[in-house]
Formats: sequence, C-alpha cells, structure tokens
Amino acid sequence: MRKAYKAHILFTREKDHFDVVENGCIAVENGCVVGIASSPEALGCAASDVIDFGDRLLIPAMNDVHVHAPQYRNLGIAMDLELLPWLANYTFPEEARYADLAYAERMYRRFVYDLWRNGTMRCAAFATVHLEATRLLMDLFHEAGMGALVGKVNMDRDCPEALRETLVEAEEACAALVQAYGNDPLVRPIMTPRFIPSCTPALLHLCGELAQLHGLPVQSHLSENTGEIELVRSLEPDSRNYADAYNRYGLFGQTPTIMAHCVWSAGEEMELMRQNDILVAHCPTSNFNLSSGMAPIRAFLDAGIRVGLGSDISGGHTLSIFRTMVYAIQASKMHYQRDRNRSFLTLSEAFWLATKSGGSVFGRVGSFEPGYEFDALVIDDSDLNHDDYPLLQRLERFIYLGDDRHIVHRFCRGREITL
Ligand code: GUN
Ligand code: FE
Repeated sequence: MRKAYKAHILFTREKDHFDVVENGCIAVENGCVVGIASSPEALGCAASDVIDFGDRLLIPAMNDVHVHAPQYRNLGIAMDLELLPWLANYTFPEEARYADLAYAERMYRRFVYDLWRNGTMRCAAFATVHLEATRLLMDLFHEAGMGALVGKVNMDRDCPEALRETLVEAEEACAALVQAYGNDPLVRPIMTPRFIPSCTPALLHLCGELAQLHGLPVQSHLSENTGEIELVRSLEPDSRNYADAYNRYGLFGQTPTIMAHCVWSAGEEMELMRQNDILVAHCPTSNFNLSSGMAPIRAFLDAGIRVGLGSDISGGHTLSIFRTMVYAIQASKMHYQRDRNRSFLTLSEAFWLATKSGGSVFGRVGSFEPGYEFDALVIDDSDLNHDDYPLLQRLERFIYLGDDRHIVHRFCRGREITL
C-alpha cells in the first residue's frame, strides 16, 4: 500500500547542498521512496493516506558504519590510554564477559535501544568472538526491525586466552551465521577480522577465503594509531603498507569492505583504498579520545574515496551520529589550520557522510531519491525554533543543540520502529 508523509523534507542527494522541500509529501511503497511532491495527489495518494507531521522536519535516519556493541558498558570511561594498552586493559576484559549469554542479553538490549533512541537505524557492528552472543545480537536487531551488518569478531593472537578462537571454530561460526542470517533483508553477517595484530596469518587467510566463499562484506581497522602501525610493520614485513597486508589476504575490497579510522593513511595506501573502493569509517570522537590523530577526510573525498561516519563506541563516547557530525566538522577545521589548501567539511558534507555516503554499505539507503529504502526520522524542534529560523538553520540547530528528545518518529525500510 502506498502511503505519504507530509513535513519539511531535508536530505543530501549530493554532498555540496541540501535538497529542501518545505511542506513536501513523500510517497512510500513496499518500504521504498516513490517520489516527493507538493501534494499527495501528484504522488498517486488519496488525501486520506497522508500522515501529516505538520511543522516538523523529516530527514533520512542515521547510519553508523563502525560501532562495537560489546563495549557499551565502557561508554564514557577509560580514556586515559592510547589504543594498544586501552584494548589490553579495558576492552578485552569487558568483551570476555560476553561468554555469559545473560550478561550479553542485558547489555545488547540496552545497546540496541540506545542506537534507536539516537536515531541510528542501520549500523555495521562488531560483536565479540563468541558465536552465541553474536547470534543473540542479530536476533535483537531483527526483533527491533532495524538494519545491521553484524560481525562475529575473529581473533586468535595477542589477546586473553578467553577471546582466542581456533581456525575450526572461526569457520564453523561463520557457516552458522550465514545459515541463520544469510538471506535476511535487514540483518546480515559481515566478516570481521579484528585487526592485523589480533589475527595470525592463517586466520587472516581463512577470513579472506570465507568472505569470498559466502559473498560476505568485510570490516576491520586500518592505520588508527602510530604504535599500532609500527606493530603491523613488524608483523607483516613483506607488505608495502598496512592496507597492502589486508589486500594480500583478500580482505581489502575483494568483497565490499569497511575500514575504520584510516587516520594515518596516505600515498600508496590511499591509492589502494581508492582502487579497491574501500568505505572509510571516520570516527572522530574515538580518534580524539584515544589520542589517535585526525583522519584526512577532505583528502579522501578529493581523491574519490568513500567515507561514512562511525561512533566507534567505546573509543568514541557517544552513539549519536549527530554529535559525530559536529566532531567531524570540528576535526576538519583543526586540519585546516595546518593545511590551508584543504577546506574544512561543511554541514551538508557531514550530513551526507552520515546518510547517503555511509548508507551505501547497506544498499540504497540514506537518501530520499526514488527507489531508496525509506529510513527516516521526524524531528520536533519546536523548543529550538523560538525565533522562526529558516529550515536549514533549524536543521543546523538540531544537529548542534538537539538530542534524542527531539526525535519523535523513526522509520526503517518503511516501517515505523517503536521500542
Ligand atoms: N582496533 C582493534 N580493536 C579495536 C577496538 O575495539 N577499538 C578501536 N578503536 N580500535 C581497535
Ligand atoms: Fe573500532
């Protein structure tokens, strides 16, 4: 059945400007956008099929292309170390607790609820090395009706014994998740070798084979921290750079691939990212908190490299992709102070990263063009709009000042999601 929603519609078909339709109608059928017009009749809808949101804003829902579900308990704590000791001291001990399914359920339920609360309808999530808890997380997304690429983490070295898997376990777990969720329209498995230091060459090789065998996308971490990069150089002396190491294992664009951070990627590594159509998950909150650095996002965009935004909790301290947009803009302004040849990110660019650009890993997601899946948020900014701001400034104020209390409806693939 065709339905229409009426509101002030804002989205970014292209990164350089917003499409704004004041008092527009958007028609949705079978979960997808049919078109936008000024009246429902022009869209083949009866006036009685229109849901009128009045003076509210209607925008695409947020996409979080890099998040660690089992780090939820550590949100907002343990910010005193850089990446490698942070993993060893805070992150691995917490992830080990997900062997306990009751604990996993309690925490994962809160995590999924919090994503929803913050307006994120799709995410690419790392779980832990545990099959059962990962399966549970997929079930929770499925139950909620939200979209997720969920990765059972692969790791077998330089970590506590409790988080170490065998090659046979890795292969069997992958087959089990493909069996359970291989054909789901919203929740799907993604191959997730944690990063080169956590995986033996044999495991990396297996991950590459399994991704190709099952046609699974891949997610991992790349060039986040200088200490990590040194370590990878010593572990993979025959590779030209960190990205080349993944590439040699078939984990770098042989299937659709998300690489988180890329703070220090440049030169040949950047060229390989472009050639292999890697999606960079830019996680500015995490990069600030773990003192990793500032990723050269403008240089990536200029080079034609795809970029989306990630919360990377609990390296990042907020699940809000709106907050993350603001940090992305601020980080790019700090970059600009060092290199005036590269302009900083604009609001429309940050919005586009969080919606259409990041959404591309989930299919036709993140825009309101015809054929796009209708993932949307309705924003009631009446308490922020006390002086009749123009529509674009209303959106800007919501992004900078607003929070989940302003999000009054959430849609994923055409369905209203209420948790
Ligand atoms: N690199 C490997 N594992 C992790 C992780 O859990 N968080 C971050 N930020 N980087 C990583
Ligand atoms: Fe991460």
